[in-house]
Amino acid sequence: MARKTPKQTQAESRRIATTGDIEVSTYLEIAKEISGEQPAVTAEAVSGAEREAVVVIDFGSQYSMLIARRVRECQVYCELLPHDAPWEKIADLNPRGFILSGGPSSVYEPGAPLAPAYIYESHLPILGICYGMQVITKQLGGLVAPGAKREYGHAILHLSDPDSPLFAGLPPSTPVWMSHGDKIEEMPPGFTALAYTENSPIAVMGDGDGIFGLQFHPEVAHTPEGKTILRNFVYRVCGCKGNWTMGNFINESLARIKEQVDGGRVICALSGGVDSAVVATIIHRAIGDQLTCIFVNNGLLRREEVERTLKVFQQNLGMNIRYVDASERFLARLKGVTDPEMKRKVIGEEFIRVFEEEAKKVGRVDFLAQGTLYPDVIESTSSVSTASAKIKTHHNVGGLPARMTLKLLEPLRYLFKDEVRQVGLELGLPEEMVWRQPFPGPGLAIRIIGEVTKEKLEILRSADFIVMNEIKKAKLYRQLWQSFAILTDVKSVGVMGDYRTYGYLIAIRAVTSEDAMTADWARLPYEVLARISSRIVNEVPEVNRVVYDITSKPPSTIEWE
Ligand code: XMP
Repeated sequence: MARKTPKQTQAESRRIATTGDIEVSTYLEIAKEISGEQPAVTAEAVSGAEREAVVVIDFGSQYSMLIARRVRECQVYCELLPHDAPWEKIADLNPRGFILSGGPSSVYEPGAPLAPAYIYESHLPILGICYGMQVITKQLGGLVAPGAKREYGHAILHLSDPDSPLFAGLPPSTPVWMSHGDKIEEMPPGFTALAYTENSPIAVMGDGDGIFGLQFHPEVAHTPEGKTILRNFVYRVCGCKGNWTMGNFINESLARIKEQVDGGRVICALSGGVDSAVVATIIHRAIGDQLTCIFVNNGLLRREEVERTLKVFQQNLGMNIRYVDASERFLARLKGVTDPEMKRKVIGEEFIRVFEEEAKKVGRVDFLAQGTLYPDVIESTSSVSTASAKIKTHHNVGGLPARMTLKLLEPLRYLFKDEVRQVGLELGLPEEMVWRQPFPGPGLAIRIIGEVTKEKLEILRSADFIVMNEIKKAKLYRQLWQSFAILTDVKSVGVMGDYRTYGYLIAIRAVTSEDAMTADWARLPYEVLARISSRIVNEVPEVNRVVYDITSKPPSTIEWE
């Protein structure tokens, strides 16, 4: 069957391409300063002998990034690009199909974003999700109208055409997750309804030639068969082979790093976190001693952290590491500082100083390696600047020496966090490091309310060590986004033996979260809380009271400062 003629004109597509200018974020500006050139978002990361990718065209849905992750879980490389991305950027990826994401707009509103003409002119398969389905409907000559009422939440999808390639392996009826206000009033010519729900007679539509629309969200966990549908689309409709594996990624990455660095020298700041650990390991695997890692001990790390990090990288992996114990310097700079943002500023600035001094000692250096991940890239190129983007921008990049003129080396630039972990494991990093919970750059300084002192750091380290130990013993560590202790500036009265005590109050924070943007307090078993509390008051003499933080984010944040 012949592909429909796109109703969108070239003029229209040009207009779309210029709406919503992409905001160049601070991140890219700083990166440019460092590298002297803007890092290009290219398709270099596509793996396998034969490049293939599915491209998600982003219309601003909160789930857009999730679609890309789901496709990659099917071992098909996927990138998320703005709806006004130029064709050249996409052609480079060798796309096998497009997914049009959901979005907050209504297609019939003036200026609503539409798909560029090349999507239809490419004659590649297209899957429109929610708003994406409405975009297809409008652009190919159907009719979208406001629904009588918003449909939000669970619905049961009934297949009217179980033979559609999209439905292979699906039961006749299956739960799906809906979230839409508009509905398809009239399908474009040549389309038929392939499935329905109680409220949506056209819950899935198709043209019999590779273009599909879904009214529901297959990417969310609430649609249990969603991944099967996406898998069917990428394999059965787009004909992908599925060559996106971390093994392939590593092989290609090693070759690319060798080529890019070409005998030059690279420095990398090691923090003990998973991203910098994986960056350092993959670069070391590629170029060995041409890489020097700088590990700054700011005196704000947790117990045994320095020793553990040095053991893995220096002893086990044989990396070239410059370890700097700068704890006294940081502590001196933090004297009298109580404001949380001032703490961050002081720590960030001092880090740059120490890093620069150490980097000078390395001699000639050409590249600065950085653990930038794909969500950072997406956030920094999207027009919506989120709070989390600011945190990341500030901390991932703010900690770098902007005055140095180095080229950037970012081998993880196209990976999601779970992929980084897989790469770490395949490179032989210890599980403990790969699955480490996030730890903030300013470290324990923002978990001590008020002034940071040596004494308080020791108290917090002891309490924190017990929390970590008990959480790990209870096998809860991986389920929690973060779990830690906070040393408050409250002192309270207690009794020990026959004596009155006047000691510190320690708070315990344990949260579950997907991405740190929102979080819920973890319902830790009482027994675990009891053990943590009892051990802290018994083993840390300065502490006589322990409380558990039971607030979610929002309105609280995860860290107390
Ligand atoms: P909040 O406290 O804002 O934290 O809910 C969200 C996530 O960000 C981490 N965080 C930081 N990370 N430098 C960092 O590198 C910081 O200054 C910082 N502040 C918060 C926090 O641990 C959580 O994972």
